Amino acid sequence: MKAVQVYLLLYVFLMTNVLVNTFFGGITDKLRWIFKSQESCDSDWISFNATGLQADLKGKLFGQHIASDIILKAVNGFMSNDNSEKPLVLSLHGLSGTGKSFVTKLIAENIYKEGMGSRFVHLFISSLHFPHSSQIDTYKSQLQQWIKGKVTDCGRSMFIFDEVDKMHPGLIDSIKPYLDYYNNVDGVSYRKAIFIFLNNDGTQRITETALNFWREGRDREEIEFKDLETSLSTSAFTNKQSGFLHSSLIEQSMIDYFIPFLPLEYTHVVQCVMAQMKAIGLKPDQNEAYKLARDLQYFPKFERVFSVSGCKTVTNRLSYIFPHHFVFQDSSI
Ligand SMILES: *[C@@H]1O[C@H](CO)[C@@H](O)[C@H](O)[C@H]1NC(C)=O
Repeated sequence: MKAVQVYLLLYVFLMTNVLVNTFFGGITDKLRWIFKSQESCDSDWISFNATGLQADLKGKLFGQHIASDIILKAVNGFMSNDNSEKPLVLSLHGLSGTGKSFVTKLIAENIYKEGMGSRFVHLFISSLHFPHSSQIDTYKSQLQQWIKGKVTDCGRSMFIFDEVDKMHPGLIDSIKPYLDYYNNVDGVSYRKAIFIFLNNDGTQRITETALNFWREGRDREEIEFKDLETSLSTSAFTNKQSGFLHSSLIEQSMIDYFIPFLPLEYTHVVQCVMAQMKAIGLKPDQNEAYKLARDLQYFPKFERVFSVSGCKTVTNRLSYIFPHHFVFQDSSI
């Protein structure tokens, strides 16, 4: 009889503890979330870290000396100017897996405390958000209302448009007023906002240039922006499939910077693998990295210089090789 009572008491005591912890623990977490952690549009949550961006571009982005330079200069200049006359508009060009989304993430992380998870950072993916060209008029007004609402809420908002080459030209044009040199549009000022367009336009010309340098035995780092500049703006014009062609953003010089991303070579993929191993808490293993990079596809067919998928599939492959070490995280490199 005595033993049963003791067990019962012990049981009640433990259960009470569990209940109290779950309930009040949960409550305090929620209260903390509501009162302390609500992200707001001020310097507690939004402040640019120039040294952080520089360090990230140098240490985490591989094989992109041109993009790295331009982005640092562009973002530094814009963020340190309190009287910017227009929003910052960047157009990133390159094959998938070369670092366009990744660099966007680095920019966000060095401006917003919450990085890509910030409620002031907005990502649009054409095939996901604007899939039906028949609904273009609905998309237009929704997008305009959305951007207006978000910038009214916080001037320092960031808008990322992925797959711009698949976006309807009319839809791109609908955001034009926000990108221009206006004091305000309907009482809202867009001068502190950041717009980033990611696309594949111009990729072929970028690749040709990089391949020519390689064939001439020249160092990749010798490629300069001017070697690619004309191909970027002209190929955006000549690619008939592109929404960008028909949009007047380019024509009217609304884009502040065209930023080319070079196709990645074997050594860059190895660097990506090593960095990713470190990021997921593995000891970087060079042999394993070589092996993984070797298994990827390269082009052109005989010379096999550039990785077809860049650093894109690295995360998935690592999770396959080391399933136990792997922590699922954003793989949009
Ligand atoms: C800025 O970035 C550097 C390098 O990543 C970091 O050491 C530093 O703590 C950051 N500063 C702030 C204020 O977050």
